[in-house]
Amino acid sequence: MKNIVILISGGGSNMEAIVRAAGRDRWAERFGARIAAVVSNKAEAGGLAIAKAQGIDTTVVPHKDFATREAFDEALAKVVDGYAPALVVLAGFMRILTPGFVNRYAGRLVNIHPSLLPAFPGLNTHQRAIEAGCKVAGVTVHQVTTELDHGPILAQAVVPVLPDDTAATLAGRVLAQEHLLYPRAIAGWLSDTSCHNE
Ligand code: GRF
Repeated sequence: MKNIVILISGGGSNMEAIVRAAGRDRWAERFGARIAAVVSNKAEAGGLAIAKAQGIDTTVVPHKDFATREAFDEALAKVVDGYAPALVVLAGFMRILTPGFVNRYAGRLVNIHPSLLPAFPGLNTHQRAIEAGCKVAGVTVHQVTTELDHGPILAQAVVPVLPDDTAATLAGRVLAQEHLLYPRAIAGWLSDTSCHNE
């Protein structure tokens, strides 16, 4: 069985969309894959209760307990490695990962970013898109490399920016697409890697 480990920091709505898709679209039968664990750097992350309710293992590795990014990433990797993951999914995981962590999972580490990369890497993407006068915005699923929000693009979805949009209304429109795109992109990745393995 291919284990998927999902890292979160907050509400976990993308994680929930992935878990639902895995059940609905029978990832276990089709790809031999399952969501093995959800790991958060914050104990208060709302997504933890959602994962637990689905019977998924959850672990908290509080970044505040570690003096350096390297020490935190090492502790995080220890938990993640416990599941021998085929794929590590960042879903609203709000920590910058060290090159050591990123390289350890090279080729099996993906992220979702709420902009049409390469436009607007980093934070406050929706406000920046509105201020730049963009007529469209969107979301990107990409492989994670050591440069923040710059890895090879796996999938994108576009939404319109409407004249009255605020960062909040645009974020809501983008998030609805995130919930469709991320499960689809992961299923595509699983289907590709299944083929390579056969
Ligand atoms: C999403 O917009 C994601 O793209 C961004 O943070 C938000 C997380 O939402 N990085 P959730 O925790 O998945 O609900």
